[in-house]
Amino acid sequence: MKNNKFYNIITYGCQMNKHDSERLAGMLEEMGYQPTDKYENADIILLNTCIIRENAELKVFGKLGELKRYKRENPDLIIGIGGCMMQQDEPVDEVYKKYRHVDLIFGTHNIHHLPDLINKIEKTRDRVVEVWDEEEGLIPDLPSQRKSEHSAWISIIQGCDNFCTYCIVPYVRGRERSRPLTSIVKEAEKLAADGVKEITLLGQNVNSYGNDLEKETTFPKLLAELNKVQKLKRIRFMTSHPRDFSDELLEKIAELDKVANHIHLPIQSGSNKVLKQMNRGYTREYYIERVEKIRKEMPHASVSTDFIVGFPGETEADFEQTINLVKELNFDMAYTFIYSPRSGTPAASRKDQIDEEVKKKRLKTLMDLQNKISYDKNQKLIGSTQEVLVTGASDSNPKVYEGRTSTNKICFFEKREELIGELVNVKIEAAKSWTLDGTIIGK
Ligand code: SAH
Ligand code: SF4
Ligand code: F3S
Repeated sequence: MKNNKFYNIITYGCQMNKHDSERLAGMLEEMGYQPTDKYENADIILLNTCIIRENAELKVFGKLGELKRYKRENPDLIIGIGGCMMQQDEPVDEVYKKYRHVDLIFGTHNIHHLPDLINKIEKTRDRVVEVWDEEEGLIPDLPSQRKSEHSAWISIIQGCDNFCTYCIVPYVRGRERSRPLTSIVKEAEKLAADGVKEITLLGQNVNSYGNDLEKETTFPKLLAELNKVQKLKRIRFMTSHPRDFSDELLEKIAELDKVANHIHLPIQSGSNKVLKQMNRGYTREYYIERVEKIRKEMPHASVSTDFIVGFPGETEADFEQTINLVKELNFDMAYTFIYSPRSGTPAASRKDQIDEEVKKKRLKTLMDLQNKISYDKNQKLIGSTQEVLVTGASDSNPKVYEGRTSTNKICFFEKREELIGELVNVKIEAAKSWTLDGTIIGK
């Protein structure tokens, strides 16, 4: 039942947050709210925040400032803020004290309480703050309002137990908790019946899926079960932790026809000293061996990674090690970040922080190198045929359609409305560092 009220959700951060926003939207729509793009039409505006790096936080405070005028124009508007930033005391205090137009503060562990919290505000018009330290029991399966009809995220494991020394995630997302295998498979079956062709399994470390469940429940087993779901065409997953990326898993991925030809395996640094101080639990040599094995078992797979430059104490020699590794491993793609100290993490209190200018210079060197490698790799695809899932009009150029290859590369081609949601063969005709251009040659 629609209630003639409208909502808008502003999302920052990773896929997990984006998926949480789909669940927030699902709950609001069950309450009768409808989506709107315009803040001035909204009765509820929610910010789903991220705290992974400082610039993520700055964006949120900027947005909160911008929203003030909408509250002035419409005092009944409810402004709520949730997500990872709200699992930390300092930002909560700051929002509560300095941004008086915010009505609701909630955390990552209690998103399923949103309807109650909103009802409370509507009744009392008091400001409400409800943030939990940990989740209570099993999270109920929540409705999702998905953006895409053909691709869907499925959360399989929440939280993280790894405590990489730079990272805030374990503090804001809590300990690892796997969802029961049957409920994941059921969700996948339901999505497939609704027309979803591609699922992406989400977790901070999907490889540790099942560690907290019965012994036989493992990530390779989950993939094997999902591979059986009829009508489903593609299975993706992220993120894999190199330490837990086992031979058993690799062999399973190589064997299962629906699992996409792409492995995202964040390395963070090419220096063993830095890796150790980051508490990553593997060496450069071990990582290289993993990638070599992936390429042997899955010759057509793409491999992407993440890097952090300017971790405390990183010397020029350490950075050189990263550069050498990039040259050696020829990644298809890499996400590169400047180290950002996160208060409360061990690395943030180190005295040997790297100068901002040095960090920026290293980032540029790394990005220039990786862009060139990605470009050269993609050039080699010209003339090849790639299987692409047609998503629809491209955001960046609405004149063409886009989709992703099994190797997770964005591909542009001509508009063909009747093919949205289909897997098609595209002949690649041109390539850049991040995208491919081609023509559909058949299904
Ligand atoms: N669980 C995943 C992703 C975590 S966040 C993993 O372990 O890979 C995504 C990326 O953000 C990380 O891979 C890392 O490269 C980067 N990151 C995390 N904390 C950071 C920090 N404090 N400063 C800069 N980059 C960071
Ligand atoms: Fe952060 Fe490390 Fe966990 Fe990834 S594995 S979320 S980088 S602590
Ligand atoms: Fe994701 Fe940012 Fe939270 S990267 S888990 S939204 S801190």
